[in-house]
Amino acid sequence: MDDIRVSRPNDLESLWMPYSDNRYFKANPRLLARASGMSYYTPDNREVLDATAGLWCSNAGHGRREIVEAIQRQAEVLDFAPTFNLGHPLAFEAASRVAELTPPGMDRVFFTNSGSESADTALKIALAYHRARGQSQRVRLIGRERGYHGVGFGGMSVGGIGPNRKQFGAMLPYTDHLPHTHLPEQNRFSRGQPRHGAHLAEALESIVALHGAETIAAVMIEPVAGSTGVLVPPHGYLQRLREICTAHGILLIYDEVITGFGRLGTSFAAERFDVTPDIMTMAKGLTNAAVPMGAVATSNDIYDAIVNGSPDGIELFHGYTYSGHPLASAAAIATLELHRSEDLNGRARKIEPYWQDAMHSLADAPGVADVRDFGLIGGIELTSRPGAAGARGTEVFRRCFDKGVLVRATGDIIAMSPPLIVEPSHVDRIVETLREAIAAIH
Ligand SMILES: Cc1ncc(COP(=O)(O)O)c(C=O)c1O
Repeated sequence: MDDIRVSRPNDLESLWMPYSDNRYFKANPRLLARASGMSYYTPDNREVLDATAGLWCSNAGHGRREIVEAIQRQAEVLDFAPTFNLGHPLAFEAASRVAELTPPGMDRVFFTNSGSESADTALKIALAYHRARGQSQRVRLIGRERGYHGVGFGGMSVGGIGPNRKQFGAMLPYTDHLPHTHLPEQNRFSRGQPRHGAHLAEALESIVALHGAETIAAVMIEPVAGSTGVLVPPHGYLQRLREICTAHGILLIYDEVITGFGRLGTSFAAERFDVTPDIMTMAKGLTNAAVPMGAVATSNDIYDAIVNGSPDGIELFHGYTYSGHPLASAAAIATLELHRSEDLNGRARKIEPYWQDAMHSLADAPGVADVRDFGLIGGIELTSRPGAAGARGTEVFRRCFDKGVLVRATGDIIAMSPPLIVEPSHVDRIVETLREAIAAIH
C-alpha cells in the first residue's frame, strides 16, 4: 500500500514489547500495518479478520471515519489544555455523554488514560469515600481469584492472576480475594450464564467474618472476567454479591473495561445483569481505542460525600496530566455518537444468538474442554498438552493468524470479542478457521 509510509521497521530490537514473548516475536514478527472495518492488514497487505476488536476495544470496527475526523479537527483547535483547576469544553461534554449511559444515579465521571489507571482510581475513590464519612479504618480491598484489573499496584494487588503478580514482590497490604466462579464439573458447555455458582458470593460473608466489615472498603470484580479466559457470572451471583456489600456498607466496584460499550448488547454489564455497582471503571471501547482514555463513574452519593465533605480547596488529591485530554475527549464523543446513531448495542444483541450457536458448534472439535459465551464474547477452552500448559492455545493463535483470523490465547483458552459490526459471514469464517486450527494442532 502506498499510503503506509513505514510498513516495515528496520530494527525490532529497541522496543521492549508489553506482555509479549519478545524473543519469539523478534524472530517471527507478525506486524499489523493498517486496519479498516472488521479487518487488520499486514505490511504485505494480507487481510486478518479481527475476532478480538484489537484487545477488546475497537467495538465500532476499525478506522471509523467519524472518529478519525473528530480527532483531526480537535488536534487543530486545541492540542492540549490542563484540567487541574482549569477546563476545556470537550472534557465536560464527554463526561456528560458517559453519564447518559451509566445507571441512574451514577452520573459523576473521572477521566483516566487506561483501564489500569481506572482500576487504581476506583480503589482510591473508595478509600477517600469512607474517610470522608469518618470511616478511615475501612482500608481493606477485596478482589477475586483470576481477576484482572490492569497493572498498577492497586489493580495488580486486587487482581488474582498469579503470573501477573509473582515477579513484583510486595503487593498492597490489606487485600483479600473471593474464590473465582469457574465450576467446570457443573457448568461445562453452558450457554450464556451458567446455572451453578451463586453460592460462591457467600465467600464475602466469610471474609467479613474474618476481617470485620468495618475494615473493608470495597470489592472489585469484573462482571464477566475476560483476561483470565472468559468466566461468565453464574445466575444470581452478582445479585448476592450486591446484597452482601449493601448489608455491610462495602462499596461494589465493577471493572467494566471490557464489558462496557456494547460488548454485552447494553452500554454496561450493570444494565445487562440488572445489578448496579457503586463505582464502575471503563476504558477501551470508550474511544473505540483510537486515543487512549479510561474513566471511572461513581454514584452521586460518593461524589457528594467526598466533594462536600472536604474543606475548601482540592477535594480529591488524584488525577492525571492527560485526564480528559482534548483528543481523547473528541474521540469519546464521536464514538458514543456512533454507538447511538448505528445502535451498536442493538446490533450486538441481534447477532448474539448466531454468535452463541457458532461458538458452541466447536464443542465437538478435538480437545475442546469447554465453550463459554456471553454477549459478543466467546471462550473456547482446550485441554492442555501434558507438561506444556498454554502450548495449544499459542499454536491455535499462530495458526489462525497465519490463516487470516486474529484470535486471542490466554493459556489454553481462546478468547474472542469481535467488533460489534460483525456479520454472520465473519462469524462463519472465524469458526471455520478455528475448527481447522484446533484439529491441526491436536
Ligand atoms: C477488566 C480489565 N481491567 C483493566 C484492564 C487494564 O486496562 P489497560 O491495559 O488499558 O490498562 C483490562 C485490560 O485488558 C481489563 O480487561
